Amino acid sequence: MPTFISRSADQTVALGQRWGQEAARGWIIGLQGELGAGKTQLVKGLALGLGIRARVHSPTFALLHEYHGGRLVLVHLDLYRLETRKEILAAGLTEYFDHPSGLTVVEWAERWFGTEKHGPGCDRTAAAFYRSVRITSLDEDTRRIVYEDSGG
Ligand SMILES: Nc1ncnc2c1ncn2[C@@H]1O[C@H](COP(=O)(O)OP(=O)(O)O)[C@@H](O)[C@H]1O
Ligand SMILES: [Mg+2]
Repeated sequence: MPTFISRSADQTVALGQRWGQEAARGWIIGLQGELGAGKTQLVKGLALGLGIRARVHSPTFALLHEYHGGRLVLVHLDLYRLETRKEILAAGLTEYFDHPSGLTVVEWAERWFGTEKHGPGCDRTAAAFYRSVRITSLDEDTRRIVYEDSGG
């Protein structure tokens, strides 16, 4: 699986920026990693890569933010507060996995897609393309970012 070692928040943003530039409509990117791993930094990069000027922050309390004004709409979900699939269903968020539009990025993606297999979770989304990303902190400034694509 492709692995990237990031040595600063800026390098993580730059990786997200490249992904934002290559993203196509309907992509879903699922992010796994502990608090402070750098998931939101990666989302900042996605926004930059799409040409979105708004400042990105974690939607932990809002569940979701949509950013317009870029090449694609960026839909940013954060499942941190939803612990079970039932809660995610009840919150009405599965619509975003069944009918993804623009670029959809999901923090705490394992809450919906599971961790069983660090992979596609194909039955959990109708997206044509799903990128499953895991970020691990190696030390204060170093992160290992591993990802796996399915579909596309
Ligand atoms: N290589 C790195 N990649 C991403 N973030 C880093 C890195 N090194 C240090 N950081 C810091 O770690 C924190 C990551 O925060 P954030 O992206 O909000 O995490 P999460 O959304 O996963 O909880 C930020 O304060 C960032 O500056
Ligand atoms: Mg976050």
